Amino acid sequence: MEQYLKLLDFWNKALKSDEVYKINGKWINDDNFNSTLKKYINENSKVLDFGCGSGWALIEASYTTAFKKGIGIDQSINGIECASKVTELSNIKNIEFIVGDQNCLKNYQNEFDFCMSINLVDVLPDNIIYDVLKDLSLAVKPNGYLMIAINPDFSFEFLQSIGYVKKDCCIYKDSIFRGNLKTNGEWINIFKQYFEFVEYKEFVLSEREKDYPRRMFILKNF
Ligand SMILES: C[S@@+](CC[C@H](N)C(=O)[O-])C[C@H]1O[C@@H](n2cnc3c(N)ncnc32)[C@H](O)[C@@H]1O
Repeated sequence: MEQYLKLLDFWNKALKSDEVYKINGKWINDDNFNSTLKKYINENSKVLDFGCGSGWALIEASYTTAFKKGIGIDQSINGIECASKVTELSNIKNIEFIVGDQNCLKNYQNEFDFCMSINLVDVLPDNIIYDVLKDLSLAVKPNGYLMIAINPDFSFEFLQSIGYVKKDCCIYKDSIFRGNLKTNGEWINIFKQYFEFVEYKEFVLSEREKDYPRRMFILKNF
């Protein structure tokens, strides 16, 4: 529990930003990312971005598909403050950002047609991953979709070279839990306890990421 509280504090501090920018439109060119949003979101969809950080993915989704309503939730007060300011500056009216963790999903039972959660589960310890997945399965409508994206499959040698220490398939930096290393098969086996596995894709947000693409799992609620 102490490790979990430390990592929440780490992410809250990491997301503090004094500068906010107006976003004028789409910036992601990746076909897999864009076609996935277009495939699973339509104009009537209610969309959740859980663990949204400073909100880039929900903002990008709002420029990619014309959904009805989007809600971004993150435990980081700093992340949500930044996301809310950017949204206001960018004059986006159909999304809002809320401070909260998986416990606040109880206020949204069977509510979302599509949920995305980007780079969240792979920064959490196993017991919290199960809590989050269970609560997401209640918040997403039956037959609704969940897109879970995680970090690239970096080699441990690379992670070690940038200062991470490995213990029991997890990585730490400065004694803070920073990553849960699992193979794609291990992730899918966990996800399948709460959702049906639909498809796996990879995407990159920049040229630099091309050698190590981010991993994306599409899941369907029972
Ligand atoms: C690696 S960041 C990713 C943020 C964002 N999705 C992105 O892609 O930039 C992990 C995020 O998960 C949030 N987080 C961690 N545990 C959480 C929890 N239990 N409930 C809600 N948010 C959580 C952190 O505050 C942080 O914003």
